[in-house]
Parts: sequence; C-alpha cells; structure tokens
Amino acid sequence: MANPYTLTLSVDGEPHPVTGADDTEPLLYVLRNQLGLNGPKFGCGVAQCGCCTVLVNGVITRSCVTKMSAVTEGDEIITLDGLGSTKQPHPLQQAFIDEQAGQCAYCSNAMIMGALGFLNGRISGGNRQVPSEDEIKQFLSGESSQPGQSSQSTYVYLCRCGSHPRIVRAIQQAAKEMVH
Ligand code: FES
Ligand code: FES
Repeated sequence: MANPYTLTLSVDGEPHPVTGADDTEPLLYVLRNQLGLNGPKFGCGVAQCGCCTVLVNGVITRSCVTKMSAVTEGDEIITLDGLGSTKQPHPLQQAFIDEQAGQCAYCSNAMIMGALGFLNGRISGGNRQVPSEDEIKQFLSGESSQPGQSSQSTYVYLCRCGSHPRIVRAIQQAAKEMVH
C-alpha cells in the first residue's frame, strides 16, 4: 500500500530533504526529478540494463526498482554526479574519457557506477590486483556478483553501442590507479 514519505536523503555527501505522496515511487525518480541529478538514467525500468545504478551504503543498487519505502535516513547514496568534477575526475571517469569508452554514452552511468562497486568491493575484500579482462566481462555480464555482496547484486550491464571492449579497458586502467 502506498504511503506518503518525508525524509532527508544523504546523496553524494550532502543532505537533501525529499517528500512525496507515494512511497512506492522509485528512488530513481526522486534523484532525477526532486534533486535534479542526471547521472542515473531511466533505461529499462526493470533492473535489466544498469542505467539507473547508484551505490547505497556501498552496495550496487538499481534505483529504478528501489522504492522509497526501502530507503531510510542514514543511507549513504553515491551517484555519478558526485563522483568527481571536471577539474578532478574520478579515476573511472578519467579512464572512460581516455579510452573514449562510449558512443552515445547512455550506458556510462551503468558502467562507471557498476565498476565502482565492483572495484571497491574487491579492494575492501583485500584483493588489490587489477581485474583480468575475463573477470570484468563476468561481472558486466552478470556471471559474478559485486565482491563481498550477496548474489542479489548480480546484474547485467548493457551497452547498445557495442563499446564493451573499450569499457573493459577503461575499468582496467582505473583499477590500476584505484588499487594503489
Ligand atoms: S533503468 Fe534501472 S536497470 Fe534499467
Ligand atoms: S555507448 Fe551507447 S549504450 Fe553504451
């Protein structure tokens, strides 16, 4: 049953009061429509592509299927918008630029935020090796979950433009910087 919601979200380190009439509203809509963020995107709306990916308390989360009723104050939400800046891009953002890892770039949020969760999970689990091409492919194709998380975080990351070879190279480039 739908209920109104009012809470303060922590997004990219900043508090944001949000309110709505229906707590079945997807987190994605709140991030885009109330907070004006345009990193997370609407793709499929059913957790199948990754366009809406954010990290919630470090866990890869598909915000298109995450209802506001499932979000609580104190959750730390990280989006692509808060990852870096033009002057100081995050290693993943810089690597995607260096490798030109996209054509239309509609999937870039999926790939960068998914890779962030993937690499952070490996590093916090004590694995500081740069992932192999096969390990990255397995992660992006949903054959392995975010390290340290349950299989619930096993997702597919879709690129309609066929940029996967460049995306894999970009993730490896960023990993080299992030593991040091
Ligand atoms: S829009 Fe959420 S996974 Fe496709
Ligand atoms: S670059 Fe177009 S969907 Fe990936």
